[in-house]
Amino acid sequence: MASDSLTITDNRTDRTYTLPIEDGTVRAMDLRQIKTGPEDFGLMTYDPAFTNTASCRSGITFIDGERGILEYRGYPIEVLAEHCTFLEVAYLLLFGELPNETGLKNWVHEITYHTMLHETTKKFMGGFRYDAHPMTMLVSTVAALATVYPEAKNIHDPENRLLQIKRLIGKMPTIAAMSYRHNLGFPYIYPDNDLSYTENFMNMLWKMVGPKYVANPVLSRALDVLFILHADHEQNCSTNTMRSVGSSQADPYVATAAAAAALSGPLHGGANEEVLKMLDEIGSKQNVAAYIQKVKNGHEKLMGFGHRVYKNYDPRAKIIKWTADRVFEVTGRNPKLEIALELERIALEDEYFVKRKLYPNVDFYSGIIYQALGFKPAMFTALFAIPRTVGWLAQWQEMVVDAEQKIARPRQIYTGQRTRRFLPMEERQAAGAMKK
Ligand code: ACO
Repeated sequence: MASDSLTITDNRTDRTYTLPIEDGTVRAMDLRQIKTGPEDFGLMTYDPAFTNTASCRSGITFIDGERGILEYRGYPIEVLAEHCTFLEVAYLLLFGELPNETGLKNWVHEITYHTMLHETTKKFMGGFRYDAHPMTMLVSTVAALATVYPEAKNIHDPENRLLQIKRLIGKMPTIAAMSYRHNLGFPYIYPDNDLSYTENFMNMLWKMVGPKYVANPVLSRALDVLFILHADHEQNCSTNTMRSVGSSQADPYVATAAAAAALSGPLHGGANEEVLKMLDEIGSKQNVAAYIQKVKNGHEKLMGFGHRVYKNYDPRAKIIKWTADRVFEVTGRNPKLEIALELERIALEDEYFVKRKLYPNVDFYSGIIYQALGFKPAMFTALFAIPRTVGWLAQWQEMVVDAEQKIARPRQIYTGQRTRRFLPMEERQAAGAMKK
């Protein structure tokens, strides 16, 4: 018998089965042969929220949650954050290798020349209510791009796929910036192709009528580092959505919009906005202990804490803290930092958090930096969506060419009633049928 195998005895039938173990997994379909009789469907696994199910093979991002390790294509996140630009990392995630000088120049040029939006898209955005949330605008506008580029649905053509990938990465900052300005009631600013990816984004956000907006290099680099940290994170909620929607062969615009919608929730990318609301609610360092008690009593969640995969420090949170110090040298310290540091100090010593392995995640400090950079909290999740678009697209592309992938279609355990007798309307009152 192969040593890389699992032997299972079904105590219902006393039959024994041997299943191969490959890459630390057994194939769920191998369980289907385990039956009590010919009528039996066969054994399935039950895994709500996919806590222990690998849904794909991926060579993009490696995480060791126990040891706090994050690598893109085999390069530690700390090294990439220190030495690369965001677009360089985007190239790495999408193509598997770091670009050489010419490769990077061409790549930056191609992304830069896809930053412009079709005028009809601008008009579409102008139709949102004056106070529309930027993230909701972004989700809808990305989906609407499918109407501008209907050829995107030819997902099996590699050249066509690459064109849509470049368009999405190029246009995401433009959509995010326009959403922001719409929310503030400011006129939209067109992209400036002379600027870097982050500088152009900052220009579209903050340029007013002359003089020319010039991004502070420390701040634009900080934003670039934040983009690197958020670029991919393997099979999280939004990436799983991207793969799931993409598995039906939907075009990449609607799949990216669906992924962005998943990101917007407060338990995922929406957490950065929630952290700021929480810090506002706490108000001062003195109130931290009482707030922690409320969390322990189950009345609140400590937003920005905890992670499905990291059961040690989130390595991104460490880099963000370092980046925050560089930003505060320019902007001055965000007063909320005091509250956040105190919250972290108390939580890391408290048995409730230690026992549950709850540590600050990427969202705990990112909001504080975003605020210091001048962003309003409503914009925070859109700031996450810009770089994560690269990860979604890399994962989508990997899925499209993976011969093992099919349309995503989980099973269920049916808990409802079966084959009931239909009651005509006149009999339902007497039978006590529901009024609603
Ligand atoms: N505050 C207080 N208690 C928490 C928190 C928190 N932030 N997170 C988890 N717990 C508790 C749970 O109540 C549970 O306690 P119990 O065992 O007594 O029932 C235990 O820790 C385990 O938590 P789960 O919910 O099972 O962990 P899961 O892996 O399902 O959730 C999640 C992970 C969603 C990130 C969760 O920790 C959370 O809600 N955190 C706050 C929101 C947040 O910061 N999200 C951003 C995540 S990073 C990202 O998406 C980019």
